[in-house]
Amino acid sequence: MTGTPRPATATVVPGDADPAPEREPDERPYSPGLEGVLAGETALSQVDGARGRLLYRGYRIGDLVERGSYAAIANLLWTGDWDPGHRLPTALVPDAVLAGLRALPSDVKPMDALRTAVSAWGAMQSLDWPPTVEQARALTAFSPSALAAFARLRDGKDPVEPDPSLDLVEGFLYQLTGSRAEPGTTRALDAYFVVGAEHGFNASTFTARVVTSTRSDVASAVAAAIGTMKGPLHGGAPSEVVDQLARMGSVDRAEAWMRAALDRGERLMGFGHRVYRAYDPRAAALRKVAESMDHKPDWLQQAIEVEDVALRLLAERHPERAIKTNVEYYAAPVLQGVGLTPDLFPATFSLARTAGWTAHVLEQAGDNRLIRPDVRYVGEPERDLPG
Ligand code: ACO
Repeated sequence: MTGTPRPATATVVPGDADPAPEREPDERPYSPGLEGVLAGETALSQVDGARGRLLYRGYRIGDLVERGSYAAIANLLWTGDWDPGHRLPTALVPDAVLAGLRALPSDVKPMDALRTAVSAWGAMQSLDWPPTVEQARALTAFSPSALAAFARLRDGKDPVEPDPSLDLVEGFLYQLTGSRAEPGTTRALDAYFVVGAEHGFNASTFTARVVTSTRSDVASAVAAAIGTMKGPLHGGAPSEVVDQLARMGSVDRAEAWMRAALDRGERLMGFGHRVYRAYDPRAAALRKVAESMDHKPDWLQQAIEVEDVALRLLAERHPERAIKTNVEYYAAPVLQGVGLTPDLFPATFSLARTAGWTAHVLEQAGDNRLIRPDVRYVGEPERDLPG
């Protein structure tokens, strides 16, 4: 191989071989998990952990659950406009994405299938910089159809095409089951979508903003966010709530079971939050929804009674840190009550959060600066290679 010859007189730059100048120790504060660190500004939602309040663009979450729909809330997040009649039907899954979903083995996790579908969808769009409200809308409308298609394909059924007369949540249920959902079922799932739509700088939203800050596209940001939400400490909890309640068996056995689990260092799913020290307002809203559902899961009463025991045990174990019920605890009965299987819970949470993720993508792009924090080096000091 012939290389370009080095210039005879190279510019003198400090080299690796030169003795390292003396280094000042880095005394800047470091917060593990970035807890308590201000890492940005947003006008989308206010999460007031101390007082247990959640506002979307200033509006209280309880009011939005009662008077809004997911489509209206998504539009509010993207544009700042409150239009309670706003509609957002689900969108067709392109053939190439369907072919990809068909190629997946039937035991693939729905979160992996959804992330794959979003990625494939993004590959087929012209998602130029900067991202737009239209892109956000298109991706939010596509994702429920993709998840519904995967859920049917793995059961050996054909996907159902979107019905443009149905709004997003009703359309999702229709494409999942092939029949129209009862109004109470649609309302309950819509309330869940409203509650799940947005929540400040949680791990997946922060991921979406980091991706966007590089001027990458909205599908890449959302695919990365889905990957982040997949972890059990973030979006995997509601299915584990169902599992834990089943393993406890009954309210009588709950205290002994939970004490033993805590002794083993396990976590009680559906409790604790990085920001909330008061009761999560989303859990309060979803408990109301769960209790008013036509088809409640038979373990809802068990969950309500176990909650009190769990809160007492967590307060005993952690008097220094208020650990309260989080949104996932009452998301579980709502999602099961509308007929979803537990393995679809995390991916359904992702569908709901797509409005928030994409709103953050737009907000980040609107005043962009590459997100690139520092890290403190704690490894070996400079040294010579052996030999
Ligand atoms: N069960 C038992 N102990 C808990 C729980 C819990 N659910 N939550 C926190 N703790 C304990 C931890 O063990 C830890 O104790 P230690 O210091 O003795 O080790 C202490 O409280 C602090 O815990 P951290 O993990 O540092 O607190 P963090 O703020 O990071 O935790 C988290 C937040 C990850 C949600 C945590 O509460 C948890 O794991 N909960 C269970 C999973 C869950 O419900 N996730 C859904 C969250 S909501 C959402 O993402 C939409």
